[in-house]
Amino acid sequence: MSVMTKQTRPLILLFGADGQVGWELRRSLLLLGTVVALNRSSQNYSGNLEDTQAIQTTIQTLKPQVVVNAAAYTAVDKAEQDYDKAHLINALAVAAMAQSCHAVNALLVHYSTDYVFDGTGDQARLETDPTQAINLYGLSKLEGEQLIQRYCSNYLIFRTSWVYASKGQNFAKTMLRLAQEKLELKVINDQIGAPTGADLIADVTAHAIVQTLQTPSLAGLYHLVASGSCSWFDYSVLVLQTAEKLGKNFKVSHSQVQGIPTSAYPTPAKRPLNSRLQHQLIETQFNLLMPNWQIGVERLVTEINC
Ligand SMILES: NC(=O)c1ccc[n+]([C@@H]2O[C@H](COP(=O)([O-])OP(=O)(O)OC[C@H]3O[C@@H](n4cnc5c(N)ncnc54)[C@H](OP(=O)(O)O)[C@@H]3O)[C@@H](O)[C@H]2O)c1
Repeated sequence: MSVMTKQTRPLILLFGADGQVGWELRRSLLLLGTVVALNRSSQNYSGNLEDTQAIQTTIQTLKPQVVVNAAAYTAVDKAEQDYDKAHLINALAVAAMAQSCHAVNALLVHYSTDYVFDGTGDQARLETDPTQAINLYGLSKLEGEQLIQRYCSNYLIFRTSWVYASKGQNFAKTMLRLAQEKLELKVINDQIGAPTGADLIADVTAHAIVQTLQTPSLAGLYHLVASGSCSWFDYSVLVLQTAEKLGKNFKVSHSQVQGIPTSAYPTPAKRPLNSRLQHQLIETQFNLLMPNWQIGVERLVTEINC
């Protein structure tokens, strides 16, 4: 067992530092060690996942103890037409990272999605349940998971869902805007999942890294989502209700939002009706209690309402 002291604080290399999760990781990882945070246009070291050779050079030059990959091709609908690029960023670049992490003996931390499942049924999926990607984005992420498992053993893969953050564009901001502009608001009520904050993901990641550096047998694949579940309709109602309690007035109030089925809102990429991920394993292994999804959403609305 290795214990982190001030002298042995790890060098942590973060890819995708400007995304929702990457931005929060910049904050949470700082407590652990020295963080080198890269995005696609970083100058000193390459953080562009479209250049797999350069990614390997970055890792093999810096020789970090931990590599955290928050970069991804996340344009779910676009991936249906642009699979080569999604595959390059979500699978081939991740394989290159895994090979280099193995070479320099680094822990690789990576994020995946419930879209690796087919989205049927109403049970929360376990980490060990059979996968069948629901769309091409999901397929590229599934390939990323499998390539990590092929090329290195010291990894943490966190499958998550319905990620939001106060930085950037998100579902809550869209609902707040539409409720101010429109006379009616229709939101899908038959897709069920758990809205999960990028801040929660980043905090859990930091906690899990510390424990895995001390106890390497904790390495593996985990579901990392908030507790409970809801539909996008329920989510939108809580967003508006929270903002109303804070004094906002909307053309469409929370009680006037209308639920619609997925079939009424066709998209290029198929979406899962069941996005539930069972997260008992991460709680047990890392001694955590995942908070209910409402807590994070109320906090988000309070933050962005200021
Ligand atoms: N968002 C969700 O609802 C969701 C759900 C389940 C799982 N996940 C997974 O969670 C992880 C974090 O997602 P997120 O929500 O933080 O995504 P995000 O906000 O879209 O961030 C992704 C980041 O990756 C960067 N990126 C894209 N292509 C790149 C490239 N070629 N080189 C370097 N960086 C590149 C993007 O930069 P640009 O902005 O410059 O393109 C962006 O900063 C991802 O693995 C994602 O698949 C997300």
